Amino acid sequence: MRLPTSPPHTPRTIGGAPHYYLEALAVDVGRQRRGTGTALMQPILDRCDATGLPAWLETVNPQNLPLYERLGFLTVEERTLRDAGINCWLMVRQPPSRA
Ligand SMILES: CC(C)(COP(=O)(O)OP(=O)(O)OC[C@H]1O[C@@H](n2cnc3c(N)ncnc32)[C@H](O)[C@@H]1OP(=O)(O)O)[C@@H](O)C(=O)NCCC(=O)NCCS
Repeated sequence: MRLPTSPPHTPRTIGGAPHYYLEALAVDVGRQRRGTGTALMQPILDRCDATGLPAWLETVNPQNLPLYERLGFLTVEERTLRDAGINCWLMVRQPPSRA
C-alpha cells in the first residue's frame, strides 16, 4: 500500500502552530471493534498531552466519528472533496489545559 507523503488537504486553519497530524490508522477487518484502534491511538494521544499539543485528523468514514469523539476529538469542519464527491470530517483534539 502506498500512502501519500503530504495529504492534499492538510489543515490550514491551525496555521503554523505545532500539532500532531494522525495520518493513517487501520485494523484488520476481522479484528475490528475490540479496542485495537483505540489502543493504537493512545500512545500518540499521551504524547500530545505530555507536550501540550493538539492532534488533527481527517476521516471520510462517518462510522469512525464516535470512535474519535470518544477519544476527545471534535469536528471543526466538514468538507466535500471536490473531485471525489465524498465528505471529509476535519477533527481536532486539544490537550488538557496546563495550569
Ligand atoms: C477505524 C478503525 C481503525 C477502528 O479500529 P477498531 O479496532 O475497530 O477500533 P476500536 O475497537 O477501538 O473502536 C471501535 C469503534 O469505532 C467505531 N466504528 C468504526 N468502524 C465501525 C463500523 N464499521 N461499524 C460501527 N462502528 C464502527 C465505533 O464507534 C466503534 O465502537 P463500538 O464498537 O463501541 O461501537 C477500523 O475500523 C478500520 O481499520 N477501519 C478501516 C480504515 C479506516 O477507516 N481507518 C481510519 C481512517 S481515518
